[in-house]
Amino acid sequence: MEVSANQQAADLLKSAFGPGPAARIIAAPGRVNLIGEHIDYHLQAVLPMALERRITIAFRPRPDSTIRAISAGQPRREFVWSKGLEQAPAGDWANYIRAAAETVSLRWGTGRGIDAAVVSDLPPAAGLSSSSALLIAFTLALLDANGIEAGFEDLMDVLPDGEQFVGTRGGGMDHAASLGSRSGHASLISFTPPAVEPVPVPAGWSFLVAHSLTHAEKSSAVMEQYNSRRRAGAEALATLGFANFTDVLKAADFASVEQMAASLPEGLVRGAFLHVAGESLRVLDAAAALKEADAERFALRLNQAHASARDQLRISHPEVDRLVVAALESGAPAARLTGAGFGGCSVVFAPQDRIEAIRLGLIERFYAGRAEFDPAQHLFEAQPGAGAIQLRTAG
Ligand code: GLA
Repeated sequence: MEVSANQQAADLLKSAFGPGPAARIIAAPGRVNLIGEHIDYHLQAVLPMALERRITIAFRPRPDSTIRAISAGQPRREFVWSKGLEQAPAGDWANYIRAAAETVSLRWGTGRGIDAAVVSDLPPAAGLSSSSALLIAFTLALLDANGIEAGFEDLMDVLPDGEQFVGTRGGGMDHAASLGSRSGHASLISFTPPAVEPVPVPAGWSFLVAHSLTHAEKSSAVMEQYNSRRRAGAEALATLGFANFTDVLKAADFASVEQMAASLPEGLVRGAFLHVAGESLRVLDAAAALKEADAERFALRLNQAHASARDQLRISHPEVDRLVVAALESGAPAARLTGAGFGGCSVVFAPQDRIEAIRLGLIERFYAGRAEFDPAQHLFEAQPGAGAIQLRTAG
C-alpha cells in the first residue's frame, strides 16, 4: 500500500527526532502557471493553478526557540530562532527555513521553535515553485506552533518579501496560488489588493507538465536574467511616462500597445513593454475563455504567450522551445514555457481525449534516448489542487 505524504513526514519526524506527541501537518502545493509570465511583479493578473504535488511538513512545537529540520536527501539543519538571522551559505536549504523564521519574526516576533520533517513530490528547480511552497509551509508551521492566526492577506503582505532572504524577489503569484487555490479550479490572481478568484477547469480539459530537462536553478546567473527583465519593464514605463502598467492598460488593446511600443528603442526595453502589456491582456482573455470553456481561444492565447516570452521578453531556452514544438506536433492545441523561464518546465494544454497520444508523442519526439528522463518527475498530468489554506480546512 502506498504510504501517504503525511505518514511519510510523520515517520521521518519520529526517526530523526525521536518519539513525542502526535505530529501536526502542514502542506503547501507547487503551482503551474497557465498564462501570465513576468507580469505579477508589475501587479498584473495571472492565471496559475496549484498542483496536487506539494511540500508536506510534519512538526512538533518545541519548548525553546530552536528550529530543527530534516528533509529526505538534505542535510539536517538546526539553529536558534532570533531576530535578524544571518543567511546560511548560498544554495543551502536552511535558507528557506531561515526565511520563514525571519518572515514570521518581522511581523509577529520570534517564538517557540519546531522540530520538522519535510517530504516533497515536487521536482525542484523546474519552475513549479517548490521553493515558495517550502517557505510557505515552514511559515505556516511556525505560526501554528505559536498559536498565531494569519489570513491570506496577512500572509500575502509578508511572504514575497520574506523570499528575499533567499536572494530572490519575484512577484506574489507563487504565494497566492500556493495559499489560496481551490481544488478543481485555476486561480485568477490579482494583486491590488491580493485576491484569488477560483475559475473551474472545464470538464475534459487537462494539462501536462513537461520538463525540458534543463534546470532553471535560482542561481545568481538566472536571477540576474530574471531581474534584468523586471528592470527593462520599469525602464519602458519611465521612458513612456507611465507610473505603472495599470495606467498603460486603462484603455489599451493589442493594437494600441504596439503603437505605444513603437516609440521605444528596439531591444529588451521595447520587448519587455510589448510582453508585459500584451500578456496582461492575454491573461484576461484566457480567463474569459476558460470561464466559457472556449478551448480554441484559450489555446490561441497560450501559444501567443509562448511566442512573446520567447521573442519579446527572451526568457525561453532552446530546449523549452523544442519541447513546445514537440507538444504541438503531438496534437496539443497549446504549449508554453511556465514559470520564470530560462529552462525548467512547459505546460501543455492536453484535452482528456488526446492526453495519452500527446504524452506518447512527447516521449517519442522529445524524451527518447534521454537517460535522465523519469516520467514521474518530468512528464505528469497537472491536476488542479487545493492551496494550503483549503488543505488545512480539509485536514
Ligand atoms: C517566478 C517568480 C514569480 C513570477 C514568475 C514569472 O516564478 O517567483 O513571481 O514572476 O517567475 O511569471
